Amino acid sequence: MKTIIKSLIIAGLATATYAKTPASATAENLINAQRVSNINVANISPSDNIWKNAKSVSVIFYPQTTIKLNDAKANATNKDNKAITAQVSAVYNNSAVAFKISWSDPTQSVQSGNVSDVYPDGFAMQMPVSFSDPKKLPYIGMGSEGRLVLVHLTKATSVHYEPNGNGDVEHQISPHNKNAFGADLKNYNDKVNKLGKNAYTRSFISEGFRSMTELKDGSDKFGMKMTYDAKSKRWTGVVAKQLRDGAADLSKYGALPVSFAIWDGDKYNRGGVKSLSTWLAVKLQGKAGGDALVKELTAKPQGDVKAGQAQVEAMCASCHTLSPTKQAASPFMAPNLNNIGGYSTNAYLAESIKDPNAVVVAGYNRNAHKGFAWYNVDAKTGKRTSTMPAMMSDDKSINDAVAYLKTLKAEVAK
Ligand code: HEC
Repeated sequence: MKTIIKSLIIAGLATATYAKTPASATAENLINAQRVSNINVANISPSDNIWKNAKSVSVIFYPQTTIKLNDAKANATNKDNKAITAQVSAVYNNSAVAFKISWSDPTQSVQSGNVSDVYPDGFAMQMPVSFSDPKKLPYIGMGSEGRLVLVHLTKATSVHYEPNGNGDVEHQISPHNKNAFGADLKNYNDKVNKLGKNAYTRSFISEGFRSMTELKDGSDKFGMKMTYDAKSKRWTGVVAKQLRDGAADLSKYGALPVSFAIWDGDKYNRGGVKSLSTWLAVKLQGKAGGDALVKELTAKPQGDVKAGQAQVEAMCASCHTLSPTKQAASPFMAPNLNNIGGYSTNAYLAESIKDPNAVVVAGYNRNAHKGFAWYNVDAKTGKRTSTMPAMMSDDKSINDAVAYLKTLKAEVAK
């Protein structure tokens, strides 16, 4: 399980359908959270009354294509992934915020027991641990050095048993590998069912790939649940978190940045093979503050797409792949930008060009891909510096490049 979790942020799709026009006019990246009286954080459910008046908005999720996975089957299955649309609504009160998210998935994938070649459907929510500048949000791939995120994750699993510190490893063994029959096997399965959990729900503090720490001390107060409706073939997930707990204090803000990820088990989605939303602004209705965040996350790029394209193709394509049909650079050179416009903010893109060290994307395992380090590490301070040179400094060029990069994203599935 640990290795699966550790690779969550990594992306995995070699190619995706390329769209020249912005995806959808319905997605504004703004969610209005309605005030409600009572949120049952620990036992949040899609059938709670709190959702009755909550308005949902369409949010588009893009295949994360940052790196190519070392799994031919997963790469092939996800080659032509389109973006998917989910319906998201939000509610809040003085102490908590909750989200409901619903998306179409024709195949319900549930991971059972200790089977490791079946991947479950799942979803995750991330929020910064704190934020002051809406232009400097954490890296969308689960945080970055100095810009931490809190990640809440749940996956569709049948009852399974997990180590609980009591030294009982016996009940983690698959019943198939158990030398037990008849009544013995039944006793064994009964015990697993009694000790087991039927949802894999976790939270992490993350500073980016390979720096995720699972929170096990209960300091983070949250709840999650996902239910599948076989008739409409849709998942509905809910997640609630206290605004102030031992992990973060988000209680002072009038608007919050939030982002979601969706995994499709049937497509071998796991680890970093997933669909990802950009940072969305959640405006807490009736609560003051947060205008700068809302403005930043809903702003349209200002530059000239054509001029930006000419510059980016000339200056950046030796390292970055910009289109699934034109693989210019080696996939190991630098992050694949095929969907960068779908899951990145304008400010992040501008910062990436002007100041590559502000957020350093970790990328591949440096030991496995020695010739392609995306960053160097200062031996004394441990600080990472990007191997990407600062490319542009004038605002016009940067704005144009950002406007072009924002067009790099897969088409939305119908
Ligand atoms: C010498 C190779 C090289 C060149 C040239 C280069 N980059 Fe990069 N770029 C990288 C590497 C390596 C990273 C990952 C490390 C980091 O985050 O800085 C990166 C990261 C990025 C990111 C963040 C990607 C993500 O997934 O979040 C963006 C955006 C980006 N570059 C845009 C550009 C643009 C635009 C240009 C041209 C103006 C450019 N790069 C030129 C190597 C390069």
